[in-house]
Amino acid sequence: MKDPLVIYGGSFDPIHEGHLRIARRARDYFEADVLFVPAYAPRWKKPEASFAERLTMLRRALKNEGSPSFAVSEIEGKRKGEVSYTVDTVREMKRLYPGRDLILLIGSDEANSFPRWKDPEEIARLASIYYVPREGVEVDDSALRTFNIHRLEGANPGAVSSSGVRSLSCLDVPYPVLSYIVERKLYFMKKLAFYLDERRLEHSISVASLAYSIALHSRLERPDLAFQAGLLHDIGKNVGEVESRDIVSREYHAYRDYPGYALHQWVGAYLAKKDFKVLDPEVIEAIAYHCTGKPHMTPLQKIVYSADKIEPGRGYDSRKLIRSCLSNYYVGFLAVLKANRAFLKKQGSGSDNALSEQCMDLYLGKDRK
Ligand SMILES: [Fe+2]
Ligand SMILES: [Fe+2]
Repeated sequence: MKDPLVIYGGSFDPIHEGHLRIARRARDYFEADVLFVPAYAPRWKKPEASFAERLTMLRRALKNEGSPSFAVSEIEGKRKGEVSYTVDTVREMKRLYPGRDLILLIGSDEANSFPRWKDPEEIARLASIYYVPREGVEVDDSALRTFNIHRLEGANPGAVSSSGVRSLSCLDVPYPVLSYIVERKLYFMKKLAFYLDERRLEHSISVASLAYSIALHSRLERPDLAFQAGLLHDIGKNVGEVESRDIVSREYHAYRDYPGYALHQWVGAYLAKKDFKVLDPEVIEAIAYHCTGKPHMTPLQKIVYSADKIEPGRGYDSRKLIRSCLSNYYVGFLAVLKANRAFLKKQGSGSDNALSEQCMDLYLGKDRK
Protein backbone atom coordinates (compact mmCIF):
# COMPACT_ATOMS: atom_id res chain seq x y z
CA MET A 1 0.00 0.00 0.00
CA LYS A 2 1.09 3.55 -0.71
CA ASP A 3 1.55 5.71 2.41
CA PRO A 4 -1.57 4.20 4.02
CA LEU A 5 -3.91 6.26 6.14
CA VAL A 6 -6.43 4.60 8.45
CA ILE A 7 -9.73 6.42 8.92
CA TYR A 8 -11.11 5.48 12.32
CA GLY A 9 -14.61 6.90 12.68
CA GLY A 10 -17.00 6.65 15.60
CA SER A 11 -18.85 8.72 18.14
CA PHE A 12 -16.04 8.43 20.71
CA ASP A 13 -18.53 9.19 23.46
CA PRO A 14 -16.04 8.93 25.13
CA ILE A 15 -12.78 7.54 23.71
CA HIS A 16 -11.49 4.61 25.82
CA GLU A 17 -8.56 2.20 25.96
CA GLY A 18 -10.39 -0.28 23.71
CA HIS A 19 -10.35 2.29 20.88
CA LEU A 20 -6.67 2.93 21.51
CA ARG A 21 -5.82 -0.79 21.45
CA ILE A 22 -7.56 -1.09 18.07
CA ALA A 23 -5.80 2.02 16.73
CA ARG A 24 -2.38 0.72 17.87
CA ARG A 25 -3.07 -2.60 16.18
CA ALA A 26 -4.13 -0.91 12.93
CA ARG A 27 -1.09 1.39 13.01
CA ASP A 28 1.31 -1.53 13.46
CA TYR A 29 -0.48 -3.93 11.10
CA PHE A 30 -0.67 -1.53 8.15
CA GLU A 31 2.37 0.56 9.14
CA ALA A 32 0.03 3.46 8.75
CA ASP A 33 -1.03 6.73 10.30
CA VAL A 34 -4.38 6.63 12.06
CA LEU A 35 -6.84 9.47 11.83
CA PHE A 36 -9.61 9.49 14.47
CA VAL A 37 -12.73 11.01 12.96
CA PRO A 38 -15.42 11.75 15.55
CA ALA A 39 -18.92 11.91 14.06
CA TYR A 40 -20.73 15.20 14.55
CA ALA A 41 -24.17 13.65 14.53
CA PRO A 42 -24.01 9.85 14.15
CA ARG A 43 -27.21 8.63 12.54
CA TRP A 44 -27.54 5.59 14.81
CA LYS A 45 -27.55 7.36 18.20
CA LYS A 46 -27.31 10.81 19.72
CA PRO A 47 -24.09 11.25 21.69
CA GLU A 48 -24.38 12.35 25.31
CA ALA A 49 -21.38 14.68 25.19
CA SER A 50 -21.16 17.56 22.71
CA PHE A 51 -18.92 17.39 19.66
CA ALA A 52 -16.49 19.87 21.27
CA GLU A 53 -16.30 17.77 24.45
CA ARG A 54 -15.74 14.53 22.55
CA LEU A 55 -13.06 16.25 20.50
CA THR A 56 -11.31 17.54 23.62
CA MET A 57 -11.33 14.05 25.16
CA LEU A 58 -9.85 12.60 21.98
CA ARG A 59 -7.12 15.24 21.94
CA ARG A 60 -6.30 14.60 25.58
CA ALA A 61 -6.16 10.83 25.01
CA LEU A 62 -3.87 11.19 22.00
CA LYS A 63 -1.59 13.66 23.73
CA ASN A 64 -1.31 11.18 26.59
CA GLU A 65 -0.62 8.39 24.09
CA GLY A 66 2.16 10.39 22.44
CA SER A 67 2.17 8.41 19.17
CA PRO A 68 3.27 10.57 16.20
CA SER A 69 1.11 8.36 13.96
CA PHE A 70 -2.16 9.33 15.65
CA ALA A 71 -4.17 12.46 14.86
CA VAL A 72 -7.74 13.76 15.13
CA SER A 73 -9.79 15.14 12.26
CA GLU A 74 -12.49 17.76 12.84
CA ILE A 75 -13.84 17.29 9.36
CA GLU A 76 -17.29 16.11 10.47
CA GLY A 77 -17.66 19.02 12.88
CA LYS A 78 -16.86 21.50 10.15
CA ARG A 79 -19.46 20.01 7.86
CA LYS A 80 -22.15 20.17 10.56
CA GLY A 81 -24.69 18.40 8.41
CA GLU A 82 -27.83 17.03 10.04
CA VAL A 83 -26.38 13.54 9.81
CA SER A 84 -22.80 12.34 9.33
CA TYR A 85 -22.40 10.16 6.23
CA THR A 86 -19.25 8.10 5.90
CA VAL A 87 -19.21 8.50 2.13
CA ASP A 88 -18.87 12.29 2.49
CA THR A 89 -15.96 11.85 4.89
CA VAL A 90 -14.16 9.36 2.67
CA ARG A 91 -14.65 11.61 -0.38
CA GLU A 92 -13.25 14.55 1.53
CA MET A 93 -10.27 12.50 2.74
CA LYS A 94 -9.50 11.43 -0.82
CA ARG A 95 -9.47 15.10 -1.81
CA LEU A 96 -7.26 16.11 1.15
CA TYR A 97 -4.81 13.21 0.76
CA PRO A 98 -4.81 12.40 -2.97
CA GLY A 99 -1.60 10.34 -2.97
CA ARG A 100 -2.48 8.08 -0.07
CA ASP A 101 -4.22 4.72 0.18
CA LEU A 102 -7.20 4.98 2.51
CA ILE A 103 -8.24 2.26 4.91
CA LEU A 104 -11.65 2.58 6.55
CA LEU A 105 -11.97 0.88 9.92
CA ILE A 106 -15.47 -0.18 11.02
CA GLY A 107 -17.02 -2.30 13.76
CA SER A 108 -18.40 -5.80 13.14
CA ASP A 109 -22.01 -4.70 13.57
CA GLU A 110 -21.31 -1.93 11.06
CA ALA A 111 -19.95 -4.52 8.63
CA ASN A 112 -23.41 -6.11 8.75
CA SER A 113 -25.27 -2.87 8.13
CA PHE A 114 -22.76 -1.63 5.55
CA PRO A 115 -24.90 -2.53 2.47
CA ARG A 116 -27.59 -0.15 3.79
CA TRP A 117 -25.20 2.82 4.22
CA LYS A 118 -25.33 5.73 1.82
CA ASP A 119 -23.39 4.88 -1.40
CA PRO A 120 -21.57 1.77 -0.12
CA GLU A 121 -20.13 1.04 -3.58
CA GLU A 122 -18.45 4.39 -3.72
CA ILE A 123 -16.97 3.98 -0.21
CA ALA A 124 -15.59 0.57 -1.23
CA ARG A 125 -14.09 2.10 -4.39
CA LEU A 126 -12.33 4.92 -2.50
CA ALA A 127 -11.04 2.94 0.49
CA SER A 128 -10.11 -0.57 1.60
CA ILE A 129 -12.51 -1.57 4.35
CA TYR A 130 -11.52 -3.54 7.42
CA TYR A 131 -13.75 -4.52 10.33
CA VAL A 132 -12.79 -5.13 13.94
CA PRO A 133 -14.26 -8.41 15.17
CA ARG A 134 -16.26 -8.23 18.39
CA GLU A 135 -17.14 -11.12 20.62
CA GLY A 136 -20.74 -12.22 20.18
CA VAL A 137 -21.27 -10.43 16.84
CA GLU A 138 -21.58 -12.69 13.80
CA VAL A 139 -20.57 -11.09 10.54
CA ASP A 140 -22.58 -11.74 7.40
CA ASP A 141 -20.32 -13.23 4.72
CA SER A 142 -22.23 -11.91 1.73
CA ALA A 143 -21.73 -8.28 2.79
CA LEU A 144 -18.04 -8.98 3.25
CA ARG A 145 -17.71 -10.48 -0.22
CA THR A 146 -19.81 -7.88 -2.05
CA PHE A 147 -17.82 -4.94 -0.72
CA ASN A 148 -14.48 -6.71 -0.26
CA ILE A 149 -14.46 -6.10 3.49
CA HIS A 150 -11.56 -7.70 5.40
CA ARG A 151 -11.11 -8.63 9.00
CA LEU A 152 -8.48 -6.81 11.04
CA GLU A 153 -6.69 -9.69 12.71
CA GLY A 154 -5.24 -9.44 16.19
CA ALA A 155 -7.26 -6.42 17.36
CA ASN A 156 -8.57 -6.95 20.88
CA PRO A 157 -10.44 -4.04 22.39
CA GLY A 158 -11.03 -5.83 25.75
CA ALA A 159 -14.15 -5.56 27.91
CA VAL A 160 -14.49 -1.76 27.91
CA SER A 161 -17.21 0.09 25.96
CA SER A 162 -18.24 3.74 25.76
CA SER A 163 -21.62 2.93 27.30
CA GLY A 164 -19.80 1.12 30.12
CA VAL A 165 -17.72 4.22 30.79
CA ARG A 166 -20.79 6.48 30.68
CA SER A 167 -22.55 4.38 33.29
CA LEU A 168 -19.40 3.92 35.47
CA SER A 169 -19.37 0.17 35.08
CA CYS A 170 -15.81 0.25 33.69
CA LEU A 171 -13.34 3.17 33.55
CA ASP A 172 -10.63 1.74 31.30
CA VAL A 173 -9.92 5.21 29.96
CA PRO A 174 -6.73 7.35 29.85
CA TYR A 175 -6.40 9.50 32.97
CA PRO A 176 -6.59 12.89 31.20
CA VAL A 177 -9.99 11.79 29.82
CA LEU A 178 -11.17 10.63 33.24
CA SER A 179 -10.25 13.92 34.85
CA TYR A 180 -12.05 15.81 32.07
CA ILE A 181 -15.23 13.77 32.62
CA VAL A 182 -15.08 14.59 36.33
CA GLU A 183 -14.30 18.31 35.79
CA ARG A 184 -17.06 18.80 33.24
CA LYS A 185 -19.51 16.63 35.19
CA LEU A 186 -20.23 14.45 32.17
CA TYR A 187 -21.87 11.02 32.02
CA PHE A 188 -21.79 9.16 35.37
CA MET A 189 -21.05 12.32 37.32
CA LYS A 190 -24.70 13.30 36.97
CA LYS A 191 -25.80 9.95 38.36
CA LEU A 192 -23.31 10.08 41.24
CA ALA A 193 -24.87 13.35 42.38
CA PHE A 194 -28.02 11.38 43.28
CA TYR A 195 -26.03 9.25 45.73
CA LEU A 196 -23.60 11.78 47.18
CA ASP A 197 -24.16 15.32 48.43
CA GLU A 198 -21.71 17.99 47.32
CA ARG A 199 -19.30 17.54 50.22
CA ARG A 200 -19.19 13.76 49.86
CA LEU A 201 -18.81 13.99 46.13
CA GLU A 202 -15.81 16.23 46.62
CA HIS A 203 -14.35 13.77 49.14
CA SER A 204 -14.96 10.88 46.74
CA ILE A 205 -13.26 12.66 43.83
CA SER A 206 -10.31 13.39 46.09
CA VAL A 207 -10.12 9.74 47.22
CA ALA A 208 -10.37 8.61 43.58
CA SER A 209 -7.52 10.86 42.41
CA LEU A 210 -5.26 9.95 45.31
CA ALA A 211 -6.00 6.23 44.99
CA TYR A 212 -5.22 6.47 41.26
CA SER A 213 -1.87 8.16 41.96
CA ILE A 214 -0.90 5.60 44.59
CA ALA A 215 -1.87 2.74 42.25
CA LEU A 216 0.10 4.31 39.40
CA HIS A 217 3.21 4.84 41.53
CA SER A 218 2.91 1.25 42.74
CA ARG A 219 2.72 0.08 39.12
CA LEU A 220 -0.65 -1.62 39.51
CA GLU A 221 -1.74 -2.84 36.12
CA ARG A 222 -5.13 -1.08 36.24
CA PRO A 223 -4.94 2.15 38.26
CA ASP A 224 -8.35 3.06 36.83
CA LEU A 225 -9.86 0.43 39.16
CA ALA A 226 -8.57 2.47 42.12
CA PHE A 227 -10.19 5.58 40.63
CA GLN A 228 -13.49 3.77 40.13
CA ALA A 229 -13.51 2.34 43.66
CA GLY A 230 -12.62 5.78 45.06
CA LEU A 231 -15.51 7.47 43.24
CA LEU A 232 -17.99 4.84 44.43
CA HIS A 233 -16.72 3.96 47.90
CA ASP A 234 -19.22 6.08 49.86
CA ILE A 235 -22.36 5.68 47.71
CA GLY A 236 -23.99 3.69 50.53
CA LYS A 237 -23.84 6.66 52.94
CA ASN A 238 -27.22 8.16 52.14
CA VAL A 239 -29.17 4.96 52.79
CA GLY A 240 -30.95 4.98 56.18
CA GLU A 241 -29.95 2.57 58.95
CA VAL A 242 -33.01 0.30 58.78
CA GLU A 243 -32.66 -0.22 55.03
CA SER A 244 -28.87 -0.56 55.34
CA ARG A 245 -29.18 -3.28 57.97
CA ASP A 246 -31.72 -4.99 55.78
CA ILE A 247 -29.34 -4.98 52.79
CA VAL A 248 -26.38 -6.14 54.89
CA SER A 249 -28.45 -8.94 56.49
CA ARG A 250 -29.32 -10.15 53.02
CA GLU A 251 -26.07 -9.62 51.15
CA TYR A 252 -23.35 -9.79 53.81
CA HIS A 253 -25.08 -11.78 56.54
CA ALA A 254 -22.02 -12.27 58.78
CA TYR A 255 -21.82 -8.50 59.36
CA ARG A 256 -25.48 -7.77 60.07
CA ASP A 257 -24.79 -6.67 63.68
CA TYR A 258 -21.90 -4.36 62.90
CA PRO A 259 -21.99 -0.76 64.19
CA GLY A 260 -24.08 1.63 62.07
CA TYR A 261 -21.15 3.66 60.68
CA ALA A 262 -19.62 0.55 59.06
CA LEU A 263 -22.73 -0.60 57.20
CA HIS A 264 -22.27 1.88 54.35
CA GLN A 265 -19.27 -0.06 53.00
CA TRP A 266 -21.38 -3.14 52.27
CA VAL A 267 -24.38 -1.11 51.13
CA GLY A 268 -21.99 0.74 48.79
CA ALA A 269 -20.61 -2.52 47.40
CA TYR A 270 -24.17 -3.75 46.84
CA LEU A 271 -25.20 -0.55 45.04
CA ALA A 272 -22.02 -0.54 42.94
CA LYS A 273 -23.01 -3.97 41.69
CA LYS A 274 -26.74 -3.39 41.35
CA ASP A 275 -27.05 0.24 40.20
CA PHE A 276 -23.69 0.81 38.49
CA LYS A 277 -23.09 -2.74 37.18
CA VAL A 278 -19.42 -2.51 38.09
CA LEU A 279 -17.62 -5.08 35.94
CA ASP A 280 -14.60 -5.90 38.08
CA PRO A 281 -15.21 -7.84 41.32
CA GLU A 282 -11.98 -6.41 42.75
CA VAL A 283 -13.57 -2.97 42.79
CA ILE A 284 -16.62 -4.28 44.66
CA GLU A 285 -14.33 -5.92 47.23
CA ALA A 286 -12.37 -2.70 47.71
CA ILE A 287 -15.57 -0.76 48.41
CA ALA A 288 -16.85 -3.51 50.73
CA TYR A 289 -13.99 -3.11 53.24
CA HIS A 290 -12.81 0.48 52.77
CA CYS A 291 -14.03 1.58 56.19
CA THR A 292 -13.12 -1.30 58.52
CA GLY A 293 -10.32 -2.98 56.61
CA LYS A 294 -9.93 -6.73 57.09
CA PRO A 295 -7.23 -9.36 57.28
CA HIS A 296 -5.55 -10.36 53.99
CA MET A 297 -6.42 -7.31 51.91
CA THR A 298 -5.55 -7.09 48.21
CA PRO A 299 -3.27 -4.23 47.02
CA LEU A 300 -6.33 -2.41 45.65
CA GLN A 301 -8.15 -2.73 48.98
CA LYS A 302 -5.16 -1.37 50.87
CA ILE A 303 -4.86 1.57 48.49
CA VAL A 304 -8.54 2.54 48.71
CA TYR A 305 -8.54 2.10 52.49
CA SER A 306 -5.51 4.40 52.81
CA ALA A 307 -6.68 7.02 50.31
CA ASP A 308 -10.01 7.32 52.15
CA LYS A 309 -8.29 8.05 55.46
CA ILE A 310 -5.66 10.50 54.19
CA GLU A 311 -7.07 12.45 51.22
CA PRO A 312 -6.06 16.11 51.57
CA GLY A 313 -9.62 17.31 52.33
CA ARG A 314 -9.85 15.30 55.57
CA GLY A 315 -8.99 18.34 57.70
CA TYR A 316 -5.73 17.25 59.30
CA ASP A 317 -2.15 17.31 58.08
CA SER A 318 -1.86 14.03 56.20
CA ARG A 319 1.01 15.06 53.93
CA LYS A 320 3.51 12.66 55.46
CA LEU A 321 1.13 9.71 55.12
CA ILE A 322 0.35 10.65 51.52
CA ARG A 323 4.06 10.78 50.69
CA SER A 324 4.56 7.44 52.34
CA CYS A 325 1.72 5.82 50.32
CA LEU A 326 3.00 7.33 47.09
CA SER A 327 6.48 5.96 47.59
CA ASN A 328 5.26 2.48 48.58
CA TYR A 329 1.60 1.59 48.94
CA TYR A 330 2.26 -1.19 51.45
CA VAL A 331 4.53 0.81 53.75
CA GLY A 332 2.06 3.69 53.49
CA PHE A 333 -0.86 1.42 54.34
CA LEU A 334 0.94 0.23 57.49
CA ALA A 335 1.59 3.84 58.50
CA VAL A 336 -2.08 4.72 57.97
CA LEU A 337 -3.20 1.72 60.03
CA LYS A 338 -0.80 2.66 62.80
CA ALA A 339 -2.01 6.25 62.85
CA ASN A 340 -5.58 4.96 62.98
CA ARG A 341 -4.85 2.69 65.90
CA ALA A 342 -3.11 5.54 67.76
CA PHE A 343 -6.09 7.82 67.10
CA LEU A 344 -8.58 5.29 68.46
CA LYS A 345 -6.42 4.73 71.52
CA LYS A 346 -6.22 8.45 72.22
CA GLN A 347 -10.00 8.58 72.10
CA GLY A 348 -9.96 5.78 74.63
CA SER A 349 -12.27 3.70 72.48
CA GLY A 350 -10.07 1.17 70.70
CA SER A 351 -11.57 -0.61 67.76
CA ASP A 352 -15.22 -1.55 68.24
CA ASN A 353 -15.46 -4.06 65.44
CA ALA A 354 -13.82 -7.41 64.87
CA LEU A 355 -12.75 -6.76 61.26
CA SER A 356 -10.68 -3.67 62.12
CA GLU A 357 -9.19 -5.43 65.09
CA GLN A 358 -8.20 -8.50 63.08
CA CYS A 359 -6.82 -6.24 60.36
CA MET A 360 -4.64 -4.27 62.78
CA ASP A 361 -3.53 -7.40 64.64
CA LEU A 362 -2.47 -9.06 61.42
CA TYR A 363 -0.61 -6.13 59.86
CA LEU A 364 0.72 -4.35 62.96
CA GLY A 365 0.99 -7.19 65.44
CA LYS A 366 -1.22 -7.55 68.51
CA ASP A 367 -1.46 -4.43 70.66
CA ARG A 368 -0.90 -5.64 74.19
CA LYS A 369 -0.60 -2.30 75.96
FE1 LIG B 1 -16.72 5.44 53.87
FE1 LIG C 1 -14.94 8.02 52.50
